[in-house]
Amino acid sequence: MRTWVILLLTLVLILVIKVDGQRRKPRPTVVRPPKRPTRPPPEPVEPTDLPPPLPPGPPSVFPDCPRECFCPPDFPSTIYCDSRNLRKVPNLPSRARYVYLQNNFIEDLPEDAFKNATEVQWINLDNNRIKKVDKKILEKMENLTYLYMEKNQLKEVPPYLPQRLEQLRLSRNQISKIPAGVFNKMDNLILLDLHHNKLSDNVFNKNTFKGLKNLIQLNLAHNILRKMPPTVPETVNQLFLDRNNIEEIPTNYFKDLPNLAFLRLNYNQLSEKGLSKNIFNISSLLVLQLAHNQFATVPSISPQLEHLYMNDNIIEKINGTEICPLPFAPADFLSSENTFVPHLRYLRLDGNQLKPPIPLDVIMCFRLLQSVII
Ligand SMILES: *[C@@H]1O[C@H](CO)[C@@H](O)[C@H](O)[C@H]1NC(C)=O
Ligand SMILES: *[C@@H]1O[C@H](CO)[C@@H](O)[C@H](O)[C@H]1NC(C)=O
Ligand SMILES: *[C@@H]1O[C@H](CO)[C@@H](O)[C@H](O)[C@H]1NC(C)=O
Ligand SMILES: *[C@@H]1O[C@H](CO)[C@@H](O)[C@H](O)[C@H]1NC(C)=O
Repeated sequence: MRTWVILLLTLVLILVIKVDGQRRKPRPTVVRPPKRPTRPPPEPVEPTDLPPPLPPGPPSVFPDCPRECFCPPDFPSTIYCDSRNLRKVPNLPSRARYVYLQNNFIEDLPEDAFKNATEVQWINLDNNRIKKVDKKILEKMENLTYLYMEKNQLKEVPPYLPQRLEQLRLSRNQISKIPAGVFNKMDNLILLDLHHNKLSDNVFNKNTFKGLKNLIQLNLAHNILRKMPPTVPETVNQLFLDRNNIEEIPTNYFKDLPNLAFLRLNYNQLSEKGLSKNIFNISSLLVLQLAHNQFATVPSISPQLEHLYMNDNIIEKINGTEICPLPFAPADFLSSENTFVPHLRYLRLDGNQLKPPIPLDVIMCFRLLQSVII
């Protein structure tokens, strides 16, 4: 009994009360392209008037280096043309593989924009003013694997995408349309980021993501969805749907997603009403984020879940016996075997109508808990 009390005391000591800034973002498990060396990227402010393009830098060791750009002598395949107040894509040499064009004022990509740079593998066009990507431009870029066009003015997903593409980042545009069949043959795509756009339910149908046979991360957060997308590729490991208006989730929705490990549904309209009891009892899931919804109770979870965010809901009380994903066997309490212990390590409950202390039955069920925020 004494050991019992000591153990409980230790547990109580490590419970954190109101800790901020602990949110963990799951990182996509994808290979990153090489980082640029040192020049610090100045964060541009959205100007009202176009500033003049910056004067050209010193001549490059490469005679074909566009004067607007910087061609590092040690990396002949890399061209830096970012943060130069450019209005158009400079004339890129054919050796270009990694092209940095972010933080400029490029408005359109004419058909010959990348005329010679047909073997480009990586293009960063984040933070420009592009409204449209001509079908013919991307058609020629067979080797393109990473296309970043965050923070532009696109209204639709580019109508043609090269088949080698592994990452497509189109967040912070005004996309309200996905051309039919655009992802049909994209079986190399690993990451699709469409967050902070204007996507609504009628954009999606059963075939929208058909063909994405290797997709790992799908980010549809911050759109105007009221429903879950009808089909999500079964390979998806990270599904982000925060900041939509989702009210319900079809029963068995997650049954077809055997690899789902990170699910984020923060800032939606979810409550017990639109959900079947076991909807989040998903054995592959490691992190479940349901903050800023209308939950009155903590939903059933699987013993494998490690992080649960239930903060800023309307939970009034919590019953450890009911939410415990495994039958609680007091005899096992002091055994060092963790095999049959729920894996939950991190639990956020702040912003509800709960008051400390954390009920004893919660602590006794989730013996691996390292912090509870209440
Ligand atoms: C692009 O290719 C054309 C034809 O091969 C050539 O004349 C031109 O100089 C090239 N431009 C650059 C920037 O390499
Ligand atoms: C680009 O793609 C072509 C055709 O698919 C291939 O032959 C070539 O080796 C690729 N280039 C690079 C640099 O990967
Ligand atoms: C969760 O699902 C498993 C099977 O997948 C089931 O055995 C278990 O009873 C469920 N948990 C709850 C609380 O219903
Ligand atoms: C918790 O739930 C269990 C099972 O439903 C019930 O027997 C128990 O009385 C509840 N505990 C509290 C404190 O409400």
